[in-house]
Amino acid sequence: MDKVILVASGKGGTGKTFFASNAGAILAERGNRVLLIDMDMGLRNLDISLGLENKVIYDIVDVVTGVCKIKQAIIKDRHFNSLYLMSASQKRDKGEINKENMKELCEKLCTKFDYIIIDCPPGIGKGLNLAASVANKGVIITVPEYAAIRDADMLDRTLIEMGVLDRSYIVNKINMELMAGGLIPNLDQISQILRPKIAGTIQYDNNIHIATNNGLPIVSKKGTYIEKNFNNMIDRII
Ligand SMILES: Nc1ncnc2c1ncn2[C@@H]1O[C@H](COP(=O)(O)OP(=O)(O)O)[C@@H](O)[C@H]1O
Ligand SMILES: [Mg+2]
Repeated sequence: MDKVILVASGKGGTGKTFFASNAGAILAERGNRVLLIDMDMGLRNLDISLGLENKVIYDIVDVVTGVCKIKQAIIKDRHFNSLYLMSASQKRDKGEINKENMKELCEKLCTKFDYIIIDCPPGIGKGLNLAASVANKGVIITVPEYAAIRDADMLDRTLIEMGVLDRSYIVNKINMELMAGGLIPNLDQISQILRPKIAGTIQYDNNIHIATNNGLPIVSKKGTYIEKNFNNMIDRII
């Protein structure tokens, strides 16, 4: 499926949900119809990062198990006209979804959306397998720490095995002073470990932390360095 992008990481907390919501917002601003799918069952939070937590009634497990129709589980974003969310289930497990369900669902969704972005659970497991069975692009979010980078490499090997060959990575939460001072791995060192192409870097910025908690993608602020950075990263990814 041509325009299904999965967002994954070896470790939790690297910024997958932050990246997925802002990437979706940028693509929607460019006039695309974009669906964000949260696959982090039990620990979903894409709804919170978009400020849509009170609007979630049905989720992806409800769709797959026939509890509701697809369109009943699609929530329109409050700020971006052509951005939509399908939430993960808080109470039911991804065990209720299999690859066939996932393929059938995404084939239908691909006729209605220009891009589908899947926010994966951290690490390697069923959630990643399901996403990889429908995605043709993978974006790995890592932070400049050797433990996270090694886990990102393990995840990358899994993506290759599962046939996701178009992969790129983002280094998030960079502290420039520490990197310049040689106290944390720099981009050259990271690129020696990770095989995909680098799609961009994002500094650690308290404004990102605050925006996530306010339920508004930070790229909705126009003309900022973060908005420009996201546009560049999206260009490289798509
Ligand atoms: N570049 C950044 N600067 C500051 N805080 C960030 C940055 N990226 C993510 N965060 C914060 O880190 C936390 C974890 O991010 P999140 O996207 O939820 O990670 P994941 O989905 O990978 O578990 C959130 O509170 C988020 O706001
Ligand atoms: Mg997350």
